[in-house]
Amino acid sequence: MSAPEQPGPGGHDAIAVVDFGGQYAHLIATKVRRQRVLAEVRQPEDPTAAFRGYRGIIISGSPSLSSHGEDSAYNKEIFELPVPILGFCFGHQEIAKRYGGRVIHGGREWGPVDFRRSRPHPLFAGLAESERVWMSHFDSVVEVGPGFEELGTSRLGDGEVHRFAALGSDTLRRYGLQFHPEVDDTLHGDQMIANFVLGICGCRPSWTMARYLEEQLDAIRARAAGQSVFLLASGGVDSTVAALLLGRALGEERLHLLHIDNGLMRQGESQQVLALLRGLGLGRHLHFVDAGDEFLAALAGLVEPEQKRWAIGDTFVRVFQREAERMGLAGHLLGQGTIYPDTIETGGTRRADTIKTHHNRVPIIEEMIARGRVIEPLAELYKVEVRELGESLGIPREVVWRHPFPGPGLGVRALCADGAAPAPGELERLSAEAGAIARPRGLEALGLPVRSVGVKADLRSYERPVLLSGAAPFERLLEVAGEIYQRVAGVNRCALWLGGAPPRSARPLQATLTRERLELLREADAVVMQGLRRHGVHDQVWQCPTVLVPLELDGCGRELVVVRPVLSERAMTARPAELPAALLDELGERLLPLPGVSGLALDLTTKPPGTIEWE
Ligand code: XMP
Repeated sequence: MSAPEQPGPGGHDAIAVVDFGGQYAHLIATKVRRQRVLAEVRQPEDPTAAFRGYRGIIISGSPSLSSHGEDSAYNKEIFELPVPILGFCFGHQEIAKRYGGRVIHGGREWGPVDFRRSRPHPLFAGLAESERVWMSHFDSVVEVGPGFEELGTSRLGDGEVHRFAALGSDTLRRYGLQFHPEVDDTLHGDQMIANFVLGICGCRPSWTMARYLEEQLDAIRARAAGQSVFLLASGGVDSTVAALLLGRALGEERLHLLHIDNGLMRQGESQQVLALLRGLGLGRHLHFVDAGDEFLAALAGLVEPEQKRWAIGDTFVRVFQREAERMGLAGHLLGQGTIYPDTIETGGTRRADTIKTHHNRVPIIEEMIARGRVIEPLAELYKVEVRELGESLGIPREVVWRHPFPGPGLGVRALCADGAAPAPGELERLSAEAGAIARPRGLEALGLPVRSVGVKADLRSYERPVLLSGAAPFERLLEVAGEIYQRVAGVNRCALWLGGAPPRSARPLQATLTRERLELLREADAVVMQGLRRHGVHDQVWQCPTVLVPLELDGCGRELVVVRPVLSERAMTARPAELPAALLDELGERLLPLPGVSGLALDLTTKPPGTIEWE
């Protein structure tokens, strides 16, 4: 077997990543690109021709069970291709089965384990005999077929040995790893991926942002084929990078930008965005429309988060279409700064559940995409890559690295509710069960009569938060919160009460999105963002939404303000960030006196089970 018969995309040596799992495949692609080798995500049912030209294939993990033959109707001709193939988890099991091995339902491992290689092998070059790797599986390989050997085993904390943690055939160049080298929890996973991609597949590292940029410019010119593009520019890093790319590729005459003030932006934001775009030389055809009233009208009376998201997304398109008509630009292509995770979380890959509909993936847009009327130059990239590209295009550092801000803006940060009381006894049960976990550690717990969105076992949840109160070190608070949302049914979030005496009762209020609530939220958000900067923690936190929750506490106020500082790499998972005590005190002093505020809390929830935004 030798090199592929055709060169890879753009003349690069490249790897195809077969996406069986939705959530991790993109991570594998990112990790391959980090080796400066182009990686492209392919679907399991893609025709064999779509896999030609790659120097190797990686098969991802999956929520499906290989032992039960789930998800087995994929294109198996890929196994006939003359290039090395490596499988992770589900991919590992499918490779074992394909070549005469046996997979059973059992031998579950979860979290970090100790991996020991059976002998030195190119896949583990430069690594120790024993390595910490990360497992997450229900099925296991118990036998390999002819020509295959066991390349390593794993050991749990109690010393129990699991066979076939790694397997392979050097003659066939087929390999499998039961663990996930793509997640950061596998300490030297990057080295294993490098060993496969650069060593076993022999890829020459040639993929750089500079080359990617040149190729994208060519691709945009070809795709636009003489047409002009009309782009919605929110001022966020994604749409700004997309605008610069399009401007560079097509020239300023063929690029029209529209900034819509949807009334859901931060304080003074639209003016800053217009100044930024002009400063970047994108002012030639820069249009602005204040559509705040129209968005508020579309949101009037809505309570359910997905309905609100759809209303915001549809209004964007309506305003955009009307403006395009008015300016005689209706025949233009629609440009969007969509990045890869937007597609995944909207359920945009066949195997992923809809956690939240992102504003650039509402049905009208999907229909325009199907008609070939949309151009999305960043659709294959992840935030960190967009930022890298943004820096190489000369966007100021503070813009490139500013916190992500969702398209629906403050619209998904003012929680709406119908004000209905929960079923009798429901909150009492939540408070009692959560209290039983919290009290032995010196904390009190109160179930709250509202719901927020979360994600559990890859599925959407819409459940209740628990409010903790009392003093404890941050790590202990996280521990208690974690135990509560894992053990108490119907809870997907915990927040910590900040301030004086904790409330004894919470009454749900009917609330929709109004101008007054938005004004209050804008002010609270500005206080939080200024505080983060003043205390020097703005750049350490990945994102910090401020949320209004319509609750009367002990008969007072209308809005509980929740601050949600998180650490994250790719927004698919997140951990609560600790803020300096002095900042929390200051937030209390400045936020509690705002009109209608009933209290202040700090969100302590990881993602999963909570999402970053509450709606
Ligand atoms: P969640 O709340 O799902 O959010 O954990 C993950 C990341 O995505 C942002 N987000 C959005 N971004 N359009 C966007 O462009 C949207 O509709 C949207 N909803 C959430 C969120 O702020 C976080 O960074």
